[in-house]
Amino acid sequence: MTKSSAPGKIILFGEHAVVYGRPALAVPVTQIHADVEILDSGRAGIWVNAPDVNLRAELNTLPSDHPIASVINNLFFLLRVSPFPNLEIKIWSTIPVASGLGSGAAVTVALTRALAAHLGHSMTEEQVNAFTYEIEKLYHGTPSGIDNTVVTYARPVYFVKGQSIETFKVGQPFTMVIADTGISALTKESVGDVRRLWINERSRWETVFDKIGEISFTARRAIEAGKNELLGELMNENHILLQKMTVSSPELDRLVEVALQGGALGSKLSGGGRGGNMIALVEPGRAEALCRSLKQAGAKHTIITHVL
Ligand code: PMV
Repeated sequence: MTKSSAPGKIILFGEHAVVYGRPALAVPVTQIHADVEILDSGRAGIWVNAPDVNLRAELNTLPSDHPIASVINNLFFLLRVSPFPNLEIKIWSTIPVASGLGSGAAVTVALTRALAAHLGHSMTEEQVNAFTYEIEKLYHGTPSGIDNTVVTYARPVYFVKGQSIETFKVGQPFTMVIADTGISALTKESVGDVRRLWINERSRWETVFDKIGEISFTARRAIEAGKNELLGELMNENHILLQKMTVSSPELDRLVEVALQGGALGSKLSGGGRGGNMIALVEPGRAEALCRSLKQAGAKHTIITHVL
């Protein structure tokens, strides 16, 4: 039997601007994860069992554009696996889908690693990351690549599209509360809307992206130096710029406000926006109470994560 696991993720700074080449920061969220288990099977075919999404099917009966079928078929093509072996594949995930927490990337990374290892192929982190990016492109249009990167490396990353992937050290661990609006929103749409704004008024939005890029740059230094208060201020500034970009929503803004009133050092939406999740930087002792306030204000789920 071969097992593999990959974490969820949050974007701390720089979403949307990252699509335009500005730096962004993301961290893994290990409290939520996708897990894959692979067994040789006595019966013919590749049987996929994913109870969370009610899927139990043989590979050939899945539509060719099914995300799990795409991973298996593309990976076997890449690794020149022929003929296909008989396998039982089990997939579980505790990462909420379509909420900006990296669920798709985590399933792809865990499944890719498990399949490659089970079939005796060694893949480097770079290869797993590049393959996962190709799969992300099939489903998300023009992703920057930040999701697959942070999920693959499972470390804090400073990411510049097409240029550099740097993992970095956290000077002083900090605690984040993540709260889900419960509204699922397509990243593709908010990315498309930002693109339309940019096409109509390039210089204005380039300036906004520059400001966000500076925030990400400064935030990385603040994290490395353990300056958590500065980090909070930078989150608030980043949220205002995301509001300007029209990717926040009344629900996200309300939860951000509740977090700040509840003593968070900073708060912002995280990911594509419009729905999905917001994040708040808190003193560890206040995290539980903040989760309760956020739930009273309408959050559907909350997660406390420690960035180390
Ligand atoms: O919704 P998420 O967490 O997948 O984040 C999308 C981040 C964007 O910058 C909006 C798009 C991208 O591809 O980087």
